Amino acid sequence: MRLLFLGDIVGRSGRNAIIDRLPGLIADRRLDFVVVNGENAAGGFGITEDIHTAVLDAGADVVTTGNHVFDQREALVFAERQDRFLRPTNFPVGTPGRGSGLYMARNGGRVLVVNIMGRVFMDALDDPFAAIDRELEACPLGEQADVVIIDFHAEASSEKQAAAWYVDGRVTLLIGTHTHVPTADYRVLPGGTAYQTDVGMCGDYQSVIGMDKDEPVRRFLTKVPGERFSAARGEATLAGLAVEVDDSTGLATAVAPLRIGGVLEQAIPPFWVD
Ligand SMILES: [Fe+2]
Ligand SMILES: [Fe+2]
Repeated sequence: MRLLFLGDIVGRSGRNAIIDRLPGLIADRRLDFVVVNGENAAGGFGITEDIHTAVLDAGADVVTTGNHVFDQREALVFAERQDRFLRPTNFPVGTPGRGSGLYMARNGGRVLVVNIMGRVFMDALDDPFAAIDRELEACPLGEQADVVIIDFHAEASSEKQAAAWYVDGRVTLLIGTHTHVPTADYRVLPGGTAYQTDVGMCGDYQSVIGMDKDEPVRRFLTKVPGERFSAARGEATLAGLAVEVDDSTGLATAVAPLRIGGVLEQAIPPFWVD
């Protein structure tokens, strides 16, 4: 199975990159399953139901989120009815929406997607490690699921790396989101789990983590809030991680970064080249 995970969509430029490029990638590269983190898709803050639907229409199978999931209040409502929309599973009991789901890939495989949020330098949440165990006990790789993907949305690299070692051999891909900057440590761990500390964002990198840079710089200089943060408007880089899966084990055999458009160095996974 051929997977693609795309990092946090930030604002209109990130949305446009997804809508313009994802359908062609899915068709030309024969992608079986695509997950996109959409937590900053609406002007940098949250996501609307219309945007969620547009990302699915572009070919995404599941949209994950993180700490910004409910920045647009309508997400409290549509999270209940959109079963391809996930918020972190370790949010408090009673939070609207769901934190995981089992989906059918284009090749017929069953894919468990779990959205988890870390708690180092973030809001206090339930233990993410125990939450992972609950999800994997309910739907183990090689039994109810042919592939397992965990979006681990967290600030601290240490927490994401610890989570990757904790699940190595039990999931297909554990990928970090939230910091919006792609890291160079993407690889398959010894047990067969693909990993990257942060996949980066689908947004304009001539910015401060996707936001127009003027206001963030001013706040660092003066500590006085001025204007509201707004998403940067330059051309986005589509940033993701491609994963090749051994269909007999559900474990990863190869990973490579995808970077298309915008100012970052361009990268196409070598195993996508026919
Ligand atoms: Fe984000
Ligand atoms: Fe985040």
